[in-house]
Amino acid sequence: MSGRIPQSFIDQLLDRTDIVEVIDAAVKLKKSGRNYSACCPFHQEKTPSFSVSPDKQFYYCFGCGAGGNALGFLMAHEHLPFVEAVERLARRAGLDVPREQLSPQAEQQQRRERTLYDRLAELSEWYYSQLKNSPEAIHYLKKRGISGKTARDYRIGFAPAGWDNVLKRFGTDDAALHELIESGMVVEGEDSKRYDRFRHRVMFPIRDGRGRVIAFGGRVLGDDKPKYLNSPETPVFHKSRELYGLFEARLAGASMDRLLVVEGYMDVVMLAEHGIHQAVATLGTAVGRAHLERLFRHTSEVIFCFDGDNAGLKAAHRALEVSLPTLQDGRMVRFMFLPDGEDPDSLVQKEGRAAFAERIAHAEPLSAFLLRTAATGQDSQSPDGRARIARNALALIAQVPAGLFRSLLIAELAKQTGLDAHRMEQQLGGHDAPPTPPRERPEPPPPQDAASPPAAQRSPQLGAAHQAMGYLLFNPQLAAHANPLNESALAALDSPDTELLLKLIAEIQARPDSSVAGLLSYWGDAEERSLLARLATYNPLLTSHEALRHEFIGCLARLAQEAAKRPTRQLQAELAEGLPLNYSDLSPEQKQRFQALFQPKADKNRSGA
Ligand code: UTP
Ligand code: MN
Repeated sequence: MSGRIPQSFIDQLLDRTDIVEVIDAAVKLKKSGRNYSACCPFHQEKTPSFSVSPDKQFYYCFGCGAGGNALGFLMAHEHLPFVEAVERLARRAGLDVPREQLSPQAEQQQRRERTLYDRLAELSEWYYSQLKNSPEAIHYLKKRGISGKTARDYRIGFAPAGWDNVLKRFGTDDAALHELIESGMVVEGEDSKRYDRFRHRVMFPIRDGRGRVIAFGGRVLGDDKPKYLNSPETPVFHKSRELYGLFEARLAGASMDRLLVVEGYMDVVMLAEHGIHQAVATLGTAVGRAHLERLFRHTSEVIFCFDGDNAGLKAAHRALEVSLPTLQDGRMVRFMFLPDGEDPDSLVQKEGRAAFAERIAHAEPLSAFLLRTAATGQDSQSPDGRARIARNALALIAQVPAGLFRSLLIAELAKQTGLDAHRMEQQLGGHDAPPTPPRERPEPPPPQDAASPPAAQRSPQLGAAHQAMGYLLFNPQLAAHANPLNESALAALDSPDTELLLKLIAEIQARPDSSVAGLLSYWGDAEERSLLARLATYNPLLTSHEALRHEFIGCLARLAQEAAKRPTRQLQAELAEGLPLNYSDLSPEQKQRFQALFQPKADKNRSGA
C-alpha cells in the first residue's frame, strides 16, 4: 500500500492553486468586498452565506458551517477521497504526486480501520437489499408510517432471521471472519461459537459525520426483548460521542439554526418523514459533554426533547447539568416536554408537522427551566424559601462559564428572589472579568463581507480558546509564544476546544513552514476542520504583531486561570502585560506562581454557597 503524500507537497500544491478558480468552476462566485460569495452548494438557501477568501485560500459557509481549503472543497463537493482530490489538483497544476513511506504500524492501523469501514458499508447495502425481499419488514415499516423515500434516505435495512446469514455470506475466510467479529457484527460466544449479532431485525445504520457506516441499531419486528440492539464499541464506533441522524440532517440540507435532540431512532426518522430534518438522537445513552460539544460545532442552539413523565424530567435535569459548563456566550439550550405517554414519533404523526414545529418554537429556555428547577418544592413567599431558591440556583449557575449569559441568569435570579445581584456575583467568585489589556481592546473580529455572521461571532466575548485559535490561524507565528502553557496545564480544562487549541499549536510547531491552508489539509476530523476553517475567517482588527501577541497571550492566560479556578489576578495581569514571553524568561518566583495556576483544585465543589 502506498504511503502518505508528504505535507510539503500539499503545501506546494495549495500554493500553486487558487481556490477562487477551483470553486468558481463549480459554483458561480460573485465578488463582494475582498471576498467572493455565492449561495452555498452544500445546503439549500436563497441568500448567499457561502464566502471564499482569496487571501486565506479558504471557503466557509455561515449557514451550514461547511468550510475548508481547495482540497476540502473538491472532497466535499465532488465526493472525492483525499488522495483523488490531491491528484485532481496536481493535474491542474502540472505536478506529479510523490509518496512517503508510512510506518508499518501506522499503515496497519489505517488498513484495519479502512477494512472495517468497507465491511460495514457492504453489510449496510446488503441489509438494505434484504429489505426489498422481505414483505414482512416492508409491512412493518409501512405500518409505522415510514415511506420508501425515508427508508432510502436513512438506508434502513433488514437482517433476516437465522443465526448465520452474515457469517456465511461475508465470513468466507479467516481474515474476513476476524473483521466481522471486530466490527461487532458477529459474536464469538463461549467455546468459540460464532453467530450473527443482528437477526430478524429492522436495521438502522449509524453513520459518522462523513457518512461512513460505523455501527448499527436493530429493532425487533414484534415485542421480543431487547427491543433495540446496538453495535458494541469498536475501533470505529464510540457511542458516547455519536449522534444518530446528524449526517442525514446535513445531507437533507436542513437548516442548522438549531438541532433537536430526541431519544430514539424512530423519533429521528419519523420527524424527517414529516419534513423536520434537524433531529438527532443519542444511541441509548444519556446526553454527555462530548455530545454537546459536537452539537455546538454544528449549531448555536440545542433543544432537548423529553417525555412529560417523571423519567423525562429526570433526564432533563441531567441534560441541564451537562449543558451548563458548555454555555459560552452565543450558545443556547432549550427544553421541550411532550405530553405524557407521547414521543416525537407518535406526536408528529398525531398532530402533524406544523403543530410539532410550534412546540419547538415554544420550547422553554434553559434559564427558565433552571430557575423553575431551583424553586421546586420551595416557598417563594418566605425569606427562607427565597434564600434556598437562590442557593439552589447559584449552585447551578456557578457551572456556567463567566460571561454575559451568566450575568443575565444572576440578574433574573435577583429579580425573582429580591436578593442583590452584585452580592450573588461575588459569591460565585473567582470568575472576574478578564483583565483589560493596557492598549487596544481585544476585538472578537467581525467577519468581513459575511452575509450572516454566526452567533459565536456576534457575541461580545468569544470563548478564549476560540479566540486564541482565531489569532493563531491569522498569524501562526504566535504559536512560538505558547510554550509555558504545556499540555497538562490546559488539558486540565478537559474541554474539546482547549484540546483542539493544543493540537493546533503542536501542529504549527511541528510544521513551521506550512501555510494555514496546508496545515488543515491533513486535519483528520471533519468537524474540527470545519471549526478551524470558520475561525480562520476572523480578521483581527489589531494589526501590529505586538498587539496580536499581547492578545494571544491574554487568551492563554485566561484559559490557564480557568484551569486553576483560583485566580491570582496579579500574575494574570502580568501575563496580559505580555512581559513573560517565554517560560524561561520568568523569575523563579513568577515560575512558582505560574505553576500554582495549574495545580489541581483542592476543593472539588466550589458551589456550596
Ligand atoms: P424507546 O424504548 O423509547 O423506543 O427507546 P422508541 O424510540 O420509542 O422506539 P419504538 O418507537 O418503540 O420503535 C429509545 C432509544 O433507546 C435505545 C434506542 O436507541 C432507542 O431508539 N434503546 C431502547 C436501546 O438501545 N435498547 C432497547 O432495548 C430499547
Ligand atoms: Mn416510539
